[in-house]
Amino acid sequence: MPTPTKILERTVSTRRPPHASEDGATVEEDGSGETADESKTRKHISVAMRVTNYLIRTGYIWPVLILGLAIVIISSLVIHSRDLVCISASSSDHISRLFWGFDGLESDFGSLGVPWCRSKDGKTVEWTSKDLLQDLMIESGAFKGHSTWVLRQAMPNTPILSLSPRHPEKYLKKGPAYVDGNCTYFAGKDFVDFGSMDWRRVMRKHGIEDHSRVLVFFDDHQNELKRLKQALKAGFRHLVFEDNYDTGTGDHYSFRQICDQFYIRGGGHSCFKDSDEARVRFKRKKFWEKAVDIEELCGPGEAWWGVRGHMRDNFNHSNNAITFAEHFQNSRFVESVLDVYWELPPVAGPSLTHQTRYDPARAPSPIVEDGRYGLFQRLGLSRLESSVFNGYTQMVYLQVSEQGT
Ligand SMILES: C[S@@+](CC[C@H](N)C(=O)[O-])C[C@H]1O[C@@H](n2cnc3c(N)ncnc32)[C@H](O)[C@@H]1O
Repeated sequence: MPTPTKILERTVSTRRPPHASEDGATVEEDGSGETADESKTRKHISVAMRVTNYLIRTGYIWPVLILGLAIVIISSLVIHSRDLVCISASSSDHISRLFWGFDGLESDFGSLGVPWCRSKDGKTVEWTSKDLLQDLMIESGAFKGHSTWVLRQAMPNTPILSLSPRHPEKYLKKGPAYVDGNCTYFAGKDFVDFGSMDWRRVMRKHGIEDHSRVLVFFDDHQNELKRLKQALKAGFRHLVFEDNYDTGTGDHYSFRQICDQFYIRGGGHSCFKDSDEARVRFKRKKFWEKAVDIEELCGPGEAWWGVRGHMRDNFNHSNNAITFAEHFQNSRFVESVLDVYWELPPVAGPSLTHQTRYDPARAPSPIVEDGRYGLFQRLGLSRLESSVFNGYTQMVYLQVSEQGT
């Protein structure tokens, strides 16, 4: 079976021949005022005329015409179904599957659902410039400083505090790394874990009184429930978590995992091998590296929550079995403090980015949807290597407040 990348390449090229722009606007000419395709057609006409004349003379014209018509109808249906695969995978899935058994993009989970954390009063995100947090940004987990650089691009003048066991400058000797001039590093011998920091003192030192004006970015692969409790205790309200892993995957307990509950549509699982979900998972696993089938999802005692019934923490160096009752209580707690839960969409659909790691059916709709190659190109995204799109793919923004506040 071809890889999804190959299938997608084929469908993209079917839809978008080299001489037509996506918007159907300019058609490149070959210098003679004609398109290359037109000149090719003309040469074929004279050959076709000669063949037609021969068939009329020999009396074979009608059987050949009927056969030709049948071929044209079948090929146009086939080509049309391929087009639909690119334009809107979800709406055309049944058509494409009918013809090709193609099954690489969205849907499938559509009928089963994908869990989502419920905020206290169903608020969604509505950004305006007044929502910009200008006081301070905190980053936990810096590695070589790439995300520090990203934060800096978003807010050129806002101070950053960065907590990471190893200082990013250590990587400078070996290759590219970023060290920010307006960042206070708690790294190397000065490293303090987010949960052990005296935030009141540090904030006072930076002239911050209102902790709810601070944005905290976590990319430290720690149990997200633990980090949420620590952030609430310190009075932070705006939190971004990279690596909000899906159930059955990842090295730390995440919000996506926590909110995977039977009372949420698409949440909760059965380890029954002869189920629709088992079949869907089995199929999706063939296409997407990070997809998990029922075998991987379920641990001993049919424990599917977290990762096979375990709450992972700290890059999976800690891995504790939890009961379903504990898992359920964790989601009740999260929902009780959650004002907004927003999973960030991927930049572009997989037929554009050629990423094959994350199942698009388990992520929100991309900003640049499959089929919008022109837009993808105009934004300069087609110049990037596909590996670029494998990172920062499971980010979530949380706005939280303590119960009763
Ligand atoms: C995935 S990397 C971060 C990548 C970085 N944010 C970026 O986007 O370029 C995870 C980092 O977390 C650091 N880390 C490990 N334990 C940590 C902790 N308790 N607090 C903060 N950072 C930690 C690791 O040393 C590593 O640098």
